[in-house]
Amino acid sequence: MAAEDRPTVVLGVTGSVAAFKAADIAAYLRRAGMRVRPVMTAAAQRFVTPLTLSALAGEEALVDLWSQGERALHLELARADLWVVAPATADFLARAAAGMADDLLTAGLLARGVGRPVLLAPAMEGELWRHPKTQENLARLLGWGHTVIGPVVGPLASGGSGMGRMAAVDDVVALALDLLSRRDLAGLRLVVTAGPTREAVDAVRYVGNRSSGRMGYALARRARARGAEVTLVSGPVALSPPFGVRHVAVETAQEMADAVRAAVAEADAVVAAAAVADYRPAAPRADKLRRGAERIRLELVRTADVLATAAAVPGREGRVLVGFAAEVGDPAASALDKCVRKGLDLCVGNDIADPDSTFGSATDRVVLAFPDGALERLPLLPKEEVADRILDRVRDLWQERRRS
Ligand code: CTP
Repeated sequence: MAAEDRPTVVLGVTGSVAAFKAADIAAYLRRAGMRVRPVMTAAAQRFVTPLTLSALAGEEALVDLWSQGERALHLELARADLWVVAPATADFLARAAAGMADDLLTAGLLARGVGRPVLLAPAMEGELWRHPKTQENLARLLGWGHTVIGPVVGPLASGGSGMGRMAAVDDVVALALDLLSRRDLAGLRLVVTAGPTREAVDAVRYVGNRSSGRMGYALARRARARGAEVTLVSGPVALSPPFGVRHVAVETAQEMADAVRAAVAEADAVVAAAAVADYRPAAPRADKLRRGAERIRLELVRTADVLATAAAVPGREGRVLVGFAAEVGDPAASALDKCVRKGLDLCVGNDIADPDSTFGSATDRVVLAFPDGALERLPLLPKEEVADRILDRVRDLWQERRRS
């Protein structure tokens, strides 16, 4: 195959002991049929030589922003089908998040802009990884739609062991190939609800819940990365909206129902991950409730059902509807019941008493329930991966609807 017919992957290598693993990544990607263009920072060259990477990539390793002559090399690299930076050091993450462009790698990444696939595989000592600034940089890069794999727990260069080791080469390569192939949600118009709602008691207080919004945000981020057009209707959370997603901020169940009703007519699928209050104070006070009587009563009334509102919008037959069932204990029975009772195409159950699956956790162990009574139990997975599995099902159902 001619070089230009192959998908092009820019392989960025930065200055970490793990840089030697980039040689394997280059070789595997090349073997998988990619044109691999290695780009090394000055620090990376202290760990491996450009010759090693050139030999394994079958393509000259690029090291210098200034040796490009007439060609705008950073712009050419920016257009590659995929960027993989492995290993990505703390310093590189900081410079990328700050938008710096003082070497070929950062200049190319900046020129690439946002919304095109970029995979980062961080590697660093645990202290550097845990620093709030590193986490802040990472959050910014994720917000731009970049994908991050690892780091993982394992032996580190310092001789110790802990968080910070680069993800396994095989996993980086597998995800890279995945990112190249996955635009499988292009054309899907998706509405996601996320986070808790707040129902006013008085001018100061509210009835709320512990939802962090992480599942809904992961769904929105992954759907967008896979090509969907996403509207994220979110209650108050401490997360920044993913890049490229239409974000509608709401507070109450009623506001959420109104926002969903407005968005759903133009949607192919609705995934309701929000933890909506089922009841709200019947008569919220405009002023502040004073401390006084020993005992007071708060009367609650039922709130709007967001999913039912979505289901009532004309065009339901052509739309995929997904709900969640957060339960204490095994959620399978309840998820099946909600699937039927709420007329859903899929209900995702999780056990909030399980510390791996509770509010705010980074992982989830879920069961997928279908209206025909089928159940699929997924293993413990990071929330992003759970989101991908749910979106796989949404894609299949959506494609079925389109065919019929
Ligand atoms: N939901 C909704 N509107 C509400 C309450 C819940 O759209 N007012 C959605 C949630 O986003 C979730 C699903 O319904 O996708 C299930 O939420 P849950 O609170 O477990 O369901 P309920 O209908 O309240 O059932 P129950 O309280 O009996 O478990």
